[in-house]
Amino acid sequence: MQAISDHLFLSPEQARAVRAQFGTPVYIYHFSTLLAQAQQALEMPNAYGLTVRYAIKANPNKAFLQLFDRLGLHFDASSGYEVYRALRAGVAPEKIQLTAQELPEDLPELVEQGVLFNAGSLSQLQRFGALFPGREVSIRVNPGRGSGHSRRTNVGGPLSPFGIWHEHLDSARAIAAAYRLRITRLHSHVGSGADPDVWRQCAALTVALAHDLPAVRRVNLGGGFKVARMPGEPGTDLPEVGAAIARVLRDFREADAARRDLHLEIEPGAFLVANAGALLCTVIDVKDTGRQGERFTVLDGGMNDLLRPTLYGAQHPIWIISGDGAERAANDFIVVGHCCESGDIFTPAPGKPEEIQPRRLPAPQIGDIAIVGGAGAYGAAMGAANYNSFPRSAELLLTPDGELHVVRRRQALEEVVAGEQPLAEIDGWETAGL
Ligand code: LLP
Repeated sequence: MQAISDHLFLSPEQARAVRAQFGTPVYIYHFSTLLAQAQQALEMPNAYGLTVRYAIKANPNKAFLQLFDRLGLHFDASSGYEVYRALRAGVAPEKIQLTAQELPEDLPELVEQGVLFNAGSLSQLQRFGALFPGREVSIRVNPGRGSGHSRRTNVGGPLSPFGIWHEHLDSARAIAAAYRLRITRLHSHVGSGADPDVWRQCAALTVALAHDLPAVRRVNLGGGFKVARMPGEPGTDLPEVGAAIARVLRDFREADAARRDLHLEIEPGAFLVANAGALLCTVIDVKDTGRQGERFTVLDGGMNDLLRPTLYGAQHPIWIISGDGAERAANDFIVVGHCCESGDIFTPAPGKPEEIQPRRLPAPQIGDIAIVGGAGAYGAAMGAANYNSFPRSAELLLTPDGELHVVRRRQALEEVVAGEQPLAEIDGWETAGL
């Protein structure tokens, strides 16, 4: 079957069959793309060994965790809850590293089990030292620069609260000395969808910091590899990045007093999963705002499923599949979601979340299928779940044999309201005199 585009893994027939069987909106993930991306990451050229950690936050579905575990990837967790999900999926604790703004209460138990800890601030390092004096530890540094596909995904430089500022390494060393900690791992992550040149410069800045940290044996350069979601958009050339970083590490070895062979770690999220996922929706309305106005296409999915366009002005490809198979003339349409929120748009102006840019599409009609691509990363994981009380959409995995496996069933309304308490049970309700 012919796929609709190079950037989509579904044929029109498959899309119609999916809707008939599972309804919409529904996420579909493509096993072969996940596999190919993981293999590419694992084969990234390197100087002295490579560990690939999947950034769980991109898509924490158990199926993803189990697949990547089986392929030999390790994991980057951004909260105690993500550590829990990885453990629950059967991942060995030693393969999980926690890099979090908020430390979980059960950090001591997790570390005792073997989970690795990456201190993202001086206070985190101090807390770890007090709990585990004499241990090995990783520190996350902010190397002084960053880059992202929007300012909101830039997590390096003076405006970012992530990591230990590079000029504060003396303080980190002092804390480590006070608790006899050995800083054996150095980490930085400077942003998502980073400009590849800036990414490489930040990587070099981070590696250089290892000269002043004599126990460091591993350097983790985080994720952030730019993904091409839109046709024609440039993406990261991983072999090229790998070769460049290998040169940086070889140069480091030459210049280093102890001639250290630094083992490299990377933490891709989007690179592994973004283009392996699509959100399949139904067109539920078509309307316009008059002769001087705009044409709108309304989908039965929205910011509750995929928040990136609303939050970042992120660009996602959209394909329309006519319900009746007929050809449609192209025209400009603003594609919006089903939420009662003017920001619920699928066609923001690039890089300007507050502005809208109509998209040239084969004129959609009510009942057509609309597929939003590039949605495997930070889609289901990051939607404004349950806004307007829409249940979470189902998630399906399409395997090479053409089978569809439900990896998350559609949320039931009872699950949306679970945990709510009737007002009458609030203490003091009767006495408030209402
Ligand atoms: N490592 C750390 C410590 C991170 O904080 C992140 C992402 C990654 C790795 C993976 O980054 P990636 O390779 O996926 O770019 N929600 C945004 C991205 C922000 C993610 C924050 N941290 C988006 O939808 O693009």
